[in-house]
Amino acid sequence: MKFFIDTANLNDIQEAYDLGVLDGVTTNPSLMAKEGISGQENVMAHYKAICDIVDDNVSAEVIATDFDGMIKEGTALAKIDDKIVVKVPMIKDGVKAIKYFTNQGIRTNCTLVFSAGQALLAAKAGASYVSPFIGRLDDISYDGLQLIDQIVTIYQNYGFTTEVLAASIRHTMHLIQCSEIGADVVTCPLNVITSLLNHPLTDSGLAKFLADHAKSNG
Ligand code: E4P
Repeated sequence: MKFFIDTANLNDIQEAYDLGVLDGVTTNPSLMAKEGISGQENVMAHYKAICDIVDDNVSAEVIATDFDGMIKEGTALAKIDDKIVVKVPMIKDGVKAIKYFTNQGIRTNCTLVFSAGQALLAAKAGASYVSPFIGRLDDISYDGLQLIDQIVTIYQNYGFTTEVLAASIRHTMHLIQCSEIGADVVTCPLNVITSLLNHPLTDSGLAKFLADHAKSNG
């Protein structure tokens, strides 16, 4: 199972990488805007800075929504670094663009996926990753985890190689349940990854070990 961090914040990416458990990064236009990154040159430089921190799998999203625009942008993004995965929205021209990039040997992440049908289309087009947004489904009273389960089953039924990248993860239980279901990848903010560390019995147990050690060692 892969862990991606869902941010464009370089400090958070470095912290997750230093923990030794990070397999990649997902960004989106909102996350880039949150970091104040604007203008094509700055955006490209920022993606390069992210690639310089991690070992692989940096999702960089196209802004264009027409086929030609997506191809132009995605091709330029892919040239930044071999670690780039071109992130393409689940729209008609997006599916065509995924097929094009697949034929060119450029990896893709199909984003904004909210149904099993959309996930099937992404896999048929050859997407490397499909990103179902579970938190946003939960927000509107649909079961995001059920969608992950459906997609995992469908992909297994037919041996699709597209990896299920559970996105829009809001808390540790989302992450743990995704791992039970068999999602290939989870992407989440740093606090969800670090929250996995927490257990009160670990804290009290460690405090006791250290106190006992101090007592017998002066
Ligand atoms: C995925 O690639 C998206 O960037 C992300 O997971 C969206 O999450 P949000 O619903 O918390 O914005």
